[in-house]
Amino acid sequence: MEYSDKVMDHFANPRNTGRIENPSGQGTVGNPTCGDLMTIYIDVDDNDVIQDIKFETFGCGAAIATSSMITEMAVGMPIEDALKISRNDVADELDGLPPVKMHCSNLAADALRAAIDDYKQKNQ
Ligand code: FES
Repeated sequence: MEYSDKVMDHFANPRNTGRIENPSGQGTVGNPTCGDLMTIYIDVDDNDVIQDIKFETFGCGAAIATSSMITEMAVGMPIEDALKISRNDVADELDGLPPVKMHCSNLAADALRAAIDDYKQKNQ
């Protein structure tokens, strides 16, 4: 299976790369399959809505594309909805990923959840 046009677009022009200084929450996860790393930063407003989100990754093209995609999906979402974004949701939004690359989309979904957990812990 080839990469979809959407995957290639997000890989070539990733959205929301970089970091947020003093984020509401941040999460870093490693992918045990390949050793790649991903960090997601979020800014959350008083209504628990994600206002800004950025990512940094040492990862493959599929990891970059899925991270870029998940930042576009999650911005403007209440955190409880963002927690429900699954790797399959991200892959669907990208018009599919090759099966051998599905593990790469775990990084984005897991890092987002870790960032939200971090935010919740700081705000309890
Ligand atoms: Fe490591 Fe894709 S090969 S995240």
